[in-house]
Amino acid sequence: MKRFEGRVVLLTGAARGIGGAAAELFAREGARVVVTDYDRADAQASIAPLLAAGLAVEAEGLDVTQEAAWAGVIDRIIARHGRLDVLVNNAGVGWAGTAEDCTLDVWRATMAVNMEGVFLGTRKAIEVMKAHGGSIVNVASIAGNVGEPLLAAYNASKGGVRIFTKAAALHCAQSGYPIRVNSLHPGYTVTKLVNSLMESMPADEAEAYTKHVLGLIPMGRLADPMEIARPLVFLASDDASYMTGSELVVDGGYIAA
Ligand SMILES: NC(=O)c1ccc[n+]([C@@H]2O[C@H](COP(=O)([O-])OP(=O)(O)OC[C@H]3O[C@@H](n4cnc5c(N)ncnc54)[C@H](O)[C@@H]3O)[C@@H](O)[C@H]2O)c1
Repeated sequence: MKRFEGRVVLLTGAARGIGGAAAELFAREGARVVVTDYDRADAQASIAPLLAAGLAVEAEGLDVTQEAAWAGVIDRIIARHGRLDVLVNNAGVGWAGTAEDCTLDVWRATMAVNMEGVFLGTRKAIEVMKAHGGSIVNVASIAGNVGEPLLAAYNASKGGVRIFTKAAALHCAQSGYPIRVNSLHPGYTVTKLVNSLMESMPADEAEAYTKHVLGLIPMGRLADPMEIARPLVFLASDDASYMTGSELVVDGGYIAA
């Protein structure tokens, strides 16, 4: 059974990684999928195999920090398809930095993408979804639930996404809008984000950090992006019809320990 037949799904930061995996799953479940990323060329290149497989996907450039860009993309979706059913706020960035050595530039750049991007997208999606309903999934992180000394700004941004999601969910429910808003909390996943984090450290520190992280994951390994994308698609689907304001943790047991 295809859960997204006739539905329009918009994902941010979806040219690769978790968003890329989710875009493919939504399309295979019958959705028309709008894959966006900071660089339109990246988004366009990422959908080539999906188009070749006959799936209904299209690409747009969207820098999630830009309010006007959000309005442009969502207004074009409504003009083309008449509806938006699912928004996945997936775009995210992260750099190493403790509460002592994180620079103000890194702090602000992290907040701009991870928090302001989610706020701008959620606000615009509510505007167009409130009449016919919809589902918003904000990709937070286990870093929104537990602290990690090396990730001060990332921790703060994902904690912000976690609690903003609840405020948005309550607002929609209390306003009588048929919109569910939930957060997804992946654990460490093999994507460019994690690779870049490792590359930003000296080799010996990266090795020690990898060992430290693996030691904290009861399942003893990182996730494959598809293992995060499947619960993400569930959260967006009608199978999660009674879930709003909730947080779905997908972390190989990390925060249970
Ligand atoms: N990989 C992990 O271990 C992990 C764990 C928990 C949460 N997450 C979260 O999952 C989400 C996806 O990350 P990923 O691991 O797939 O990493 P990724 O680097 O593969 O994907 C992130 C995407 O976000 C895009 N992006 C960055 N800045 C942007 C901007 N201003 N506007 C639009 N797009 C922008 C990038 O171009 C990239 O395609 C992020 O929110 C991340 O914080 C990842």
